Amino acid sequence: MRILSGIQPSGKLHIGNYFGMMRPALELAQKGEAFYFIADYHALTSITNPDELRANVLDVALDFLACGLDPAKTVFYRQSDVPAVAELAWILDCVTPMPMLENAVSYKDKLAAGLKPNAGLFTYPVLQAADILIVQGEKVPVGKDQKQHLEISRDIASAFNRTFGETFVIPEAYIRPEVATLPGTDGRKMSKSYGNIIEIFGDEKATKKSVMGIVTDSQPVEAPKQKLDENIPLHLLKLVAADKAKEVEAKLAAGGYGYGEAKKELLAALTDHFTPYRKKREELAKNLDYVNDVLRKGAERANAVAGDTMAKVRKAVGLK
Ligand code: ADP
Ligand code: TRP
Repeated sequence: MRILSGIQPSGKLHIGNYFGMMRPALELAQKGEAFYFIADYHALTSITNPDELRANVLDVALDFLACGLDPAKTVFYRQSDVPAVAELAWILDCVTPMPMLENAVSYKDKLAAGLKPNAGLFTYPVLQAADILIVQGEKVPVGKDQKQHLEISRDIASAFNRTFGETFVIPEAYIRPEVATLPGTDGRKMSKSYGNIIEIFGDEKATKKSVMGIVTDSQPVEAPKQKLDENIPLHLLKLVAADKAKEVEAKLAAGGYGYGEAKKELLAALTDHFTPYRKKREELAKNLDYVNDVLRKGAERANAVAGDTMAKVRKAVGLK
């Protein structure tokens, strides 16, 4: 089974990215041949500072390797090191109906927010389809917000196959229901654009501030707490430390135990979970030659697969 996923280097990664995409992706990588990449072409739709882009790419590389990506098993690369994806995206543009892109949420959201979207943002889902199809990805681990992009990728692959003959495997999203959408500290979807994130590798003080600032209802400390399925600290604790979460849930339900205590447990559990990764990240950051070498080798392997696909695609459409 071919597995593929990507993440944009557009800011610090947060625990929504980790539990929603990275952890499921790292687990799934054990079951097949995984291709994971840093989507720097995509990030150009929103980042215009080259130093910022370079720094973000390195951050994502360190984050992924620190969190357990095994470069001996998984092909890990920078998207722009496989420039054929941009060529494939152009070819796919020519079988993609405009209305499908006009209805894409990320594009509509920007329009609704009053931003002037660039053409890159408009064709963003086509480039994403190219990322997947160029390695013939079958399963694509992502969070729920990417569901529509995956549907567009499937439609584009089918349109190409109908027009030019069977060429692409039709990819499928791999979305774990329990982590499909992690809430942020304000209860909306955790997202860097909402400023409601808990960073994976934020400093201790900032992480504490974010966790202790998570919104909860205002039931008093003494009250046996109701509606615990809507409680964000408990929800997050279940993902990091399931046993501890059971204990905390029982205490909240019994009463005489406040949300502040639950948040402290969450903070401790997050610290426990990420401390080994943080140490690994510090070591990797001292050895950037190794990190760059991983990405270079990953690009070589990805380019070999991409080359095979592009030979088929060029032939199918009548290019040289
Ligand atoms: P952001 O919304 O912070 O900009 P991205 O769009 O860069 O995050 O998401 C990168 C990956 O992480 C995608 O696969 C996305 O589905 C997943 N992801 C992001 N936020 C969440 C969340 N709150 N819950 C679950 N998955 C998420
Ligand atoms: N659009 C994805 C996001 O914002 C990133 C991405 C780019 C991606 N290309 C991809 C994800 C291909 C899965 C497959 O998170």
